[in-house]
Amino acid sequence: MEFQKNILVTGGAGFIGSHVLRRLVNNYPTYKVVNLDALTYAGNLSNLRDIEAAPNYLFEKGNICDAKLVMEIFSKHHIDAVIHLAAESHVDRSISNPTEFIMTNIIGTVNLLNAAKACWGKEIEDKCFYHISTDEVYGSLGQEGLFTEKTPYDPRSPYSSSKASSDHIVRSYFHTYNLPVKLSNCSNNYGANQFPEKLIPLIINNIKNEKPLPVYGEGLNVRDWLWVEDHASAIDTVFHNGKIGETYNIGGLNEWKNIDLVHMICDQMDEKLAQKKGMSRSLITFVKDRAGHDLRYAIDASKIENDLGWKPSINFEQGLSLTIDWYLNNESWLNDVTSGEYKKYYSNQYVNR
Ligand code: NAD
Ligand code: TYD
Repeated sequence: MEFQKNILVTGGAGFIGSHVLRRLVNNYPTYKVVNLDALTYAGNLSNLRDIEAAPNYLFEKGNICDAKLVMEIFSKHHIDAVIHLAAESHVDRSISNPTEFIMTNIIGTVNLLNAAKACWGKEIEDKCFYHISTDEVYGSLGQEGLFTEKTPYDPRSPYSSSKASSDHIVRSYFHTYNLPVKLSNCSNNYGANQFPEKLIPLIINNIKNEKPLPVYGEGLNVRDWLWVEDHASAIDTVFHNGKIGETYNIGGLNEWKNIDLVHMICDQMDEKLAQKKGMSRSLITFVKDRAGHDLRYAIDASKIENDLGWKPSINFEQGLSLTIDWYLNNESWLNDVTSGEYKKYYSNQYVNR
């Protein structure tokens, strides 16, 4: 079958990538969607079981740090568009091992840009290189204000600085080589299939296993949480309707102090597990703060709302309830990802903290 577009999604076996892939494969049968993923600890093909046999889906196992392989994939599949999500994504891991973040997030992105530039040349009509980034590039807010697309970059962790660097390089390929790029910077995501190193699934998993709930510092840091399906719908919107050369901030206008969020998860879990109220809260343990811990992130998403008509679809209580239900109903997924490497990571990160 001749496809209308051949799209390369990188990092499609990860958390956000799997939701984006499912949406593309199911909603756009005339697109061929190629998933390039190295299957690191964070990549999991079982996130994609329901679409793996679809006629418009293909998986390629490979590392974006391998320039030759990236070039081969571009020419083999006649790639017209890239949605680039592959990254090392966890701040705590970037503190203990920054080099992997520099390799994947910067060098990997440059390899993809070079392949797009080489394969597309001057034939850029209908081509698009869409880079998925984070609000963490803007640094840390005080009690007031929101990140807009014009907020100067001020990244403060190896993760956020590697993402900031890749954002700058993507924009430089637009200005220097006329490569048709788009970018978006999103706030914290939550939902099904998130690896339980991130706050929300880690707390759910620990409550399930009656383990301490580690809250960094005093739990006063603030994050702006967005349901992953709403991020996937925003990515779909920017991919199809966003302007070349533009950046869009994506967020939920949904700020929570960590401790308040942990309380909400505890209370919902007590109810869902039919436990005595307060059982889960009794597991909360304040632990040593993260080094360089950014105080507050919050997104002004008015550009994507006004220009492209995107809005989050559900409120936080609903999204969190769906998320907890997903983890409770997918015990084998959770057991699989928390065996092996996770145990070692967990004990290095939390024991004696
Ligand atoms: P994730 O860690 O769950 O998944 C990353 C995926 O990339 C995995 O499937 C992994 O196997 C793959 N990968 C890693 N290194 C690779 C390499 N060298 N070559 C090929 N594949 C590789 O990440 P996520 O949370 O889904 O984030 C996806 C993207 O969205 C990232 O670029 C991240 O910076 C960005 N983002 C994440 C959030 C969030 O809250 N999780 C918020 C805003 C932006
Ligand atoms: P995280 O999910 O790692 O996302 P990010 O650091 O990219 O925002 O963390 C969200 C917030 O929760 C952040 O302020 C750090 C805090 N946190 C804890 O208090 N305890 C934990 O065990 C983890 C993983 C995070």
